[in-house]
Amino acid sequence: GLVNTREMFKRAVAGGYAIPAFNFNTMEQMQAIVMAAVETKSPVIMQVSKGARNYANGTILRNLAKGAVEYAKELGCEHPEIVLHLDHGDTFELCKDCIDNGFSSVMIDGSSLPYEENVALAKKVVEYAHQFDVTVEAELGVLAGVEDEVSSAESHYTKPEEVIDFATRTGCDSLAISIGTSHGAHKFTPEQCTLVNGVLVPPPLAFDILHEIEQKLPGFPIVLHGSSSVPMDEVNTINKYGGHLEAAIGIPEEQLRKAAKSAVCKINIDSDSRLAMTAAIRKHLAEHPGDFDPRQYLKPARENMKKMYIHKIVNVLGSDGKL
Ligand code: G3H
Ligand code: 13P
Ligand code: NA
Ligand code: ZN
Repeated sequence: GLVNTREMFKRAVAGGYAIPAFNFNTMEQMQAIVMAAVETKSPVIMQVSKGARNYANGTILRNLAKGAVEYAKELGCEHPEIVLHLDHGDTFELCKDCIDNGFSSVMIDGSSLPYEENVALAKKVVEYAHQFDVTVEAELGVLAGVEDEVSSAESHYTKPEEVIDFATRTGCDSLAISIGTSHGAHKFTPEQCTLVNGVLVPPPLAFDILHEIEQKLPGFPIVLHGSSSVPMDEVNTINKYGGHLEAAIGIPEEQLRKAAKSAVCKINIDSDSRLAMTAAIRKHLAEHPGDFDPRQYLKPARENMKKMYIHKIVNVLGSDGKL
């Protein structure tokens, strides 16, 4: 069945790689994630946001994930390691509902709360989750929005001096931190970037903060949200075939490669899947205007997502061959 994150994080931290955490909202995303994980022999975290539950229905998504384990076996993987994780749970009740219904891992995101409230909420979720061997991710520090000035973004970075107290008092199994990543396809404005050989290069992640955190909590599993790299070729395909994405800028993969070698052992990617799906659908429909069977355009969309997932696993996170 589904597994929690405990053993896979221990191995990932020790081995200097990161486990991919891919969000899914549709069957095609689930299939592409499983195919990619099986082909690369990688453990994988399939995560469901509150928005995904509102879109697709929580019951349907969790049964898709349970079916994913059997599907992986059908594809020839004898012992798949698949986690079903709640992404950005915002209340105890939502986390409890997921724990009660077969999720193997949950995130309680109290990062926008005052420190003591974040501690209390995370601790309450941990106490409940651990009775059922469900692992818990909590978060300290706030991920920046693109509108934020660089200075205020930095003021939201995780404070290394808080992490020992937070991890000890909450008992959380992993800690999401803020070191310069953010959600979505517009992580930086062009003004925040430097032009190098015609390419806009965003400011680097705060590796100094990451290293301080690693020194405070040796071997403790660290999580990076907002880690899509927003591939230019997908953005260009979307724009070529009728889309209009401006200033779509992500985290350079080189930065993620470096992070994966550290105590960062879970890297969250959602936007890159959305871009891969949309690019393939736009291209297919533009080139085949007579097609109207969803299978005709969802199949190339699924293929394109699978290719992206395999690329992340093999060339960025390094979790291939780790089953
Ligand atoms: O952290 C955000 C994830 O990308 C999920 O996004 O809330 O739109 O499903 P969503
Ligand atoms: P991206 O928007 O960068 O894909 O981040 C996803 C994420 O952090 C999900 O929790
Ligand atoms: Na790592
Ligand atoms: Zn996130």
